[in-house]
Amino acid sequence: MKQTGAILWLTGLSGAGKTTIAQRLLQELQARNYSVELLDGDLVRTHLSQGLGFSKQDRDINVRRIGFVANLLSRHGIIAIVAAISPYREVRSELKQTTTNFIEIYVQAPLAVCESRDVKGLYAKARAGEIKHFTGISDPYEAPINPDIICQTDNFTVEQCVNQVLHYLERQGLMSLVENNKSSQRN
Ligand code: ADX
Repeated sequence: MKQTGAILWLTGLSGAGKTTIAQRLLQELQARNYSVELLDGDLVRTHLSQGLGFSKQDRDINVRRIGFVANLLSRHGIIAIVAAISPYREVRSELKQTTTNFIEIYVQAPLAVCESRDVKGLYAKARAGEIKHFTGISDPYEAPINPDIICQTDNFTVEQCVNQVLHYLERQGLMSLVENNKSSQRN
């Protein structure tokens, strides 16, 4: 039996909890012996997308690049977890249509909550006008209309959100919650 690949695409405002959920998902799937990779926006921007800014054009390029790599992984049986603001609906829809097992996960918290968390201090800078085109403040975020999963991080714990995703994967037949036997994948 071969592992089925998938793209777990976490979209949402800065500070909504994408990276936190993504890292916990990574751990949970690794603990079950799944082949899994994490593509996080912040890290991708220091490697794959170095030099790109935050205009619509640059964000779309960034998102398409991440989607391209995630799809290579997914179609070879790996679970690719993506955490990127990816604010534009159209390019997310494009990826859903052109990639293997794209699962759109809306990591949702009200802007006021994200702003009060301000983990990186970026909202304060955006409000002060030190950062231009900041998502939610001076740049758009187009929320998914029909996401596969919504993780409401202001109402649920990280663990509850992660379990929501794991149960979805199980219902879709993409993984079993019991430990995966890697040796049988190689046969
Ligand atoms: S995306 O819009 O192209 O998907 P991505 O997720 O890769 O964005 O990067 C977002 C990260 O860049 C944020 O977590 C934040 O640390 C940083 N950042 C810097 N400037 C901005 C900005 N103007 N808008 C949003 N995030 C920004």
